[in-house]
Amino acid sequence: MRRHFLTLMDLSPVELRRVIERAMELKARSRLRERYLPLEGRILAMIFDKSSTRTRVSFEAAMTHLGGSAIFLTSADTQLGRGEPVEDTSQVLSRMVDVVVIRTTSHEMVETFAAHSRVPVINGLTDRYHPCQLLADVQTYREQRGEIRGRTVAWVGDGNNVCHSWINAARQFGFDLRIATPPGYAPAEELVHASRGFVALVDTPRQAVEGVDIVVTDTWASMGDEDEKERRQKDFDGYTVDQSLMNTAHPDAVFMHCLPAYRGLEVSAEVMDGPRSLVFDQAENRMHAQKALLEFLLVPGTR
Ligand code: CP
Ligand code: NVA
Repeated sequence: MRRHFLTLMDLSPVELRRVIERAMELKARSRLRERYLPLEGRILAMIFDKSSTRTRVSFEAAMTHLGGSAIFLTSADTQLGRGEPVEDTSQVLSRMVDVVVIRTTSHEMVETFAAHSRVPVINGLTDRYHPCQLLADVQTYREQRGEIRGRTVAWVGDGNNVCHSWINAARQFGFDLRIATPPGYAPAEELVHASRGFVALVDTPRQAVEGVDIVVTDTWASMGDEDEKERRQKDFDGYTVDQSLMNTAHPDAVFMHCLPAYRGLEVSAEVMDGPRSLVFDQAENRMHAQKALLEFLLVPGTR
């Protein structure tokens, strides 16, 4: 049966754990430069309507390493940009390629594409979620500090797509998530409700961070929010993850950020470039985690 990965809820907790374990194995094997070509002849189509460094390069590199190839597209240079329905585009592309990654604004567009696709569809970021990021993030914590289950995580900043995926992760991986956002920037209520028991909204960054194992943030102005940049900088005053805030976390706590980061805004340069920061391991692990995901979706027997 074809499976999609539109949110972290599309895989069971056991499957997610298996993908992360596998990502670590594939990373170790790639360090040894072992040849492993399970996706020989397979093609990934990538439809990207928003900028990307990590997601694009990690998927393209992953496909090449595993013996397959990738075709990079934007809506603007396909007929999607001229009004061809998503449903038709999905039926056409999925007769030609083996898997599709989509990065776009509308989560509903990705759901519609998936509903009409013969092949697995992966969410490469929508306004609502960024599930691939969380595979890499959980892998990174696991490598550096062990199991994430039972730990406590603080999200400080915008209740955005990445925050929503952390909320899903709290439930799927079994950790506590404390979220501090300025008024008006809270994550979607129904997602918080669905993860109740794992997620708490708190009033200040300090309340979120005190004693936690992981401090996470993201840009205050996501792609699409550019017009609100100035207003957001005012609204997020006091939400910078700086050294004095990090000092209130557990002494062994780490700092995480999906990148791109804006030093001096959501994170101080000292924290971003400091010894507790895992941001570049997170970025590298995008590639390893997505290799494991592609294998899970495309190679029978790895589920
Ligand atoms: N973290 C992340 O998805 O980065 P890109 O926007 O560079 O893909
Ligand atoms: N929240 C950010 C994440 C970028 C990877 C955005 O959507 O722009």
